[in-house]
Amino acid sequence: MTQRRPLIAGNWKMNCLRADGLALASSLAAKASEKGDLGCDILVCPPATLLSDVVGVTHGSVVAVGGQDCHVAISGAHTGDLAAPMLTDIGAQYVLVGHSERRADHGESSTDIRKKAIAAHDAGLIAVVCVGETEEERDLGATLPVVNGQVAVSLPDGATAKNTVVAYEPVWAIGTGRTASVEEVADVHRAIRAELVKRFEDGNEFRILYGGSVKPSNAKELLGVEDVDGALVGGASLKVEDFWQIIESCA
Ligand code: G3P
Repeated sequence: MTQRRPLIAGNWKMNCLRADGLALASSLAAKASEKGDLGCDILVCPPATLLSDVVGVTHGSVVAVGGQDCHVAISGAHTGDLAAPMLTDIGAQYVLVGHSERRADHGESSTDIRKKAIAAHDAGLIAVVCVGETEEERDLGATLPVVNGQVAVSLPDGATAKNTVVAYEPVWAIGTGRTASVEEVADVHRAIRAELVKRFEDGNEFRILYGGSVKPSNAKELLGVEDVDGALVGGASLKVEDFWQIIESCA
C-alpha cells in the first residue's frame, strides 16, 4: 500500500492582524520544534499581508507557508493580485487554488483553477487544488459527478504527487459546524483517488485532504478514513491549541 505522509494545513482566510498572526505562527513553530516529527507535514496559509513575516517567524521550523491564491500571470496589470513567483520569492512553498470561497466570490471556474495550478507549478510551488460540491448539488445527488468534474478540469496534465495536493471541501460543511459523515468522505475520496489513478502515473501517491469544520473532536475519525491524507482546516487553525490537537490526531 502506498504510504502518503499526511498534510495538516491551516487556511487563515481573511483573519488575523499582524500581532495575532505572528503570535499564532510563532507558537506553532515553537511547538513543532519542541515536539519533533509527528509524522505529518504542517502548513499555514496566512493572508497576503502576513505572508512574508510568517515565513520569517517559522523559518527553521517544519511549518511551511502558503498563499491563499495566485494569479495565472507571472506579472502585469492585475491590481490587487499576487503572482505565483512573488510567493516563491518570499519563501512560500504552497498555494491554495480553487477554494470554494474564491470560486463563489470571484467567479473562478475549474478552467481558471487549472491555469493557476500551472502558474504555481511553474513557480516551483505545490498547488493545493480545492474541490467540493454545494449543498444544492449534494441534495440533487450530484456530489460525485460534480467533484470528479472539478478534479478532471482543475488539475493540469503536469500535476504530480510532488507538486499537487487535492483538497475535498464540501461547501455546505465549511464554517458551518457540519461535517460530512465518514461514509460520505470515504465515498468522495475513493472517487477522487480513482480519477487520479486513471489519469496520472503516480495517482496513488497524491495526498487528498478533507476540509469542512474539521476540529479537535472529529479530526481523528476523519483522518482515519481511507484515502484521507490530511486536513485543510479553517476556523480551528486560528487557535494554536486546536490546530495542534488536529496535528496530533495524525499520529
Ligand atoms: O479551507 C478551509 C476551509 O474552507 C474549512 O473551513 O472553518 O470549516 O474549517 P472551516
